[in-house]
Amino acid sequence: MFDDVPLRKAILHRRAFVPDVVSEYVAYEGKAASLFCIRMQFFGNAAFDRWKRETGEGMATISLRSLTKRWGDVIAVDDQSLEIEDTEFLVLLGPSGCGKTTTMRMIAGLEQPSAGEIWIGDRLVNDALPKDRDVAMVFQNYGLYPHMTVFGNIAYPLKVRRTPAPEVRERVGAAAEKVQLGDLLDRKPRELSGGQRQRVALARAIVRRPQVFLMDEPLSNLDAKLRVTMRAELKHLSHELQITTVYVTHDQIEAMTLADRVAIMDRGRIQQLGRPEEIYNDPKNLFVAGFIGSPAMNLVEGGIAENRFRIDGTAIAPVDAPSRDGLVLGVRPEDLTLTAAGEGDFDAPVYASELTGESVLVTVEVGGNRIAAKADRQVQHAIGERVGIGVDASRIYLFDAASGERLRTG
Ligand SMILES: Nc1ncnc2c1ncn2[C@@H]1O[C@H](COP(=O)(O)OP(=O)(O)OP(=O)(O)O)[C@@H](O)[C@H]1O
Ligand SMILES: [Mg+2]
Repeated sequence: MFDDVPLRKAILHRRAFVPDVVSEYVAYEGKAASLFCIRMQFFGNAAFDRWKRETGEGMATISLRSLTKRWGDVIAVDDQSLEIEDTEFLVLLGPSGCGKTTTMRMIAGLEQPSAGEIWIGDRLVNDALPKDRDVAMVFQNYGLYPHMTVFGNIAYPLKVRRTPAPEVRERVGAAAEKVQLGDLLDRKPRELSGGQRQRVALARAIVRRPQVFLMDEPLSNLDAKLRVTMRAELKHLSHELQITTVYVTHDQIEAMTLADRVAIMDRGRIQQLGRPEEIYNDPKNLFVAGFIGSPAMNLVEGGIAENRFRIDGTAIAPVDAPSRDGLVLGVRPEDLTLTAAGEGDFDAPVYASELTGESVLVTVEVGGNRIAAKADRQVQHAIGERVGIGVDASRIYLFDAASGERLRTG
């Protein structure tokens, strides 16, 4: 039954749209196909997933193996390996210039790797042309055609594949509906807001129902409020479509809220790969600890003596670890408590107090270091006033100052 290649492909790539697979195939192949499709519907996704797992067929996994990209002396991506699972939403997160776009462009086939392999499913695609990889990319700057209407822009990928006009109308209509653009199909891009343009770019990607989505900072041009709305829409859409997605951003909140797993990159290398809560609760090194979390984790240099972490001799926190120097202590503002002077683990003068909305961020100064604590929003302290800070010993992280690696205690 699964020997029918065109039918199998149609179902693999369109499984979120089984009813229209049925209609397409009734038209195309006749009764046998329609019966098969109805059976697929009846057994549902669980049976389909089991079949995919058992046969390995149609798994849109992505495997990067020792992938490297160099331009002369610049190493943009440095010997990276990464396994992305079928239907996974993987976020590449990292500061500007760390190699995110380059990684993405290599997967799309817009950039040739200097070394290493790229696999999509069971296919080595290093030498495949972009159009033969069955990936759809959403670019940061939308990449819309200004002279075409919204309809024309969304329809474009179908037109170049010579899709029949009635099917184009139906699929563009469905994609536009999904991103709430149904009323704007006759407008030109210049007559749209940034958020609406962004949604046109998304619709143009989903209209194809590709095996893989690649999205490069698709929300970065939007204002803060729209970004939050679109983030939720993207999350909903990805849940609905179940298509393997690689998403690039330098915004950690976007990464944490959208991702199944996050790969944190720095200088061409993946520093840590894990579920958002793993990355947040269990950072592997100083880079990840400092990058994830808003407000950022407090990181202060010092050493341990007599089970106290000390900055220039001043004890600030209880620690259960052997004495040594050359350490960095990390603690998140939300894991510190503000007390009256003399009642915490250490006292310090208030450097600044900022109302952020739901809480107050109180920054104190200790031995030239600033340490921020999140406090109740009713708290009011004058600059210079001495306060106490309580440290939860179970919520601190220790790092080797020289290597940046996390020290595991206990
Ligand atoms: N065509 C090129 N020629 C030479 N160097 C390049 C080229 N494209 C990118 N680079 C360099 O490769 C490194 C990685 O670039 P890349 O665009 O992948 O970064 P990024 O993580 O996407 O950053 P951003 O968040 O700013 O978009 C950078 O140092 C960049 O200057
Ligand atoms: Mg980029």
